Amino acid sequence: MFLQTHNLCKDFGALRAVHSVNLKIGKGVHSVIGPNGAGKTTLFNLLTGFLKPTEGKIFYLNKEITDLPPYEISQLGLARSFQITSIFPDLSVHENLRVAVQSRLKASYNFLRSFKKLKGVDEKTQEILDRVGLKDMAETSAKNLSYGLQRGLDIGISLATDPKLILLDEPTSGMDRKDSAQIIELISVISKRIPIVLIEHNIDAVLSISDMITVLYQGAILAEGGPSEIQKNEKVQEAYLGGYRVA
Ligand SMILES: Nc1ncnc2c1ncn2[C@@H]1O[C@H](COP(=O)(O)OP(=O)(O)OP(=O)(O)O)[C@@H](O)[C@H]1O
Ligand SMILES: [Mg+2]
Repeated sequence: MFLQTHNLCKDFGALRAVHSVNLKIGKGVHSVIGPNGAGKTTLFNLLTGFLKPTEGKIFYLNKEITDLPPYEISQLGLARSFQITSIFPDLSVHENLRVAVQSRLKASYNFLRSFKKLKGVDEKTQEILDRVGLKDMAETSAKNLSYGLQRGLDIGISLATDPKLILLDEPTSGMDRKDSAQIIELISVISKRIPIVLIEHNIDAVLSISDMITVLYQGAILAEGGPSEIQKNEKVQEAYLGGYRVA
């Protein structure tokens, strides 16, 4: 188990935004879906240390992280992709990735090992360029990429930190169908090596790439299971699948 929560709760005043959530994240893509205001982003904020739970515990790779600050959680390899904010618009795609790879290494900078590390930076940058499918765009300024490819670059930047688990909150929001399909494909490929927790409103995409789906409704888990199980679940259909907004 990569990540696990025990009776996780978060109150905002009188509102219980996250209600006794017991989540178990294993391999592959685990999607968290639910109507607007269901508590999905709040859950991510709890998992990454940006919010402290009112009650409950969080375990990451069997270590309790409930009270750790965000930077310590991220150093443990739990990465969260922020919407494009981590991109330097005037740097090329290659430079953006290189900066991200280097900043990861800086923490353990050692003069004697620096040459070897520099070589490591080049290799790692190339590897990520390849993995996010941006090799042909390596010299393009980030600001000239389409919105979809910028999100791809953003995911590449989170890969540079060697994450053990990646959390993505609506990575396709605001994208056209083509860009969106590209990002979903990228997520699917990356998830073969690194588990991904995905919040996504495009239900077709969720059903096609998820190994596991958790449905949140008013802060609590309404249902959990594989795509076909969730699709068939009457409680889920009643709660919202019928009139669900498709991105
Ligand atoms: N900082 C906050 N202070 C007070 N209330 C908050 C705060 N953050 C979220 N909420 C409330 O908690 C509930 C859950 O919000 P959250 O953003 O987690 O939902 P969500 O499932 O991510 O929704 P969406 O699909 O619209 O992104 C909502 O009612 C929201 O208004
Ligand atoms: Mg949200």
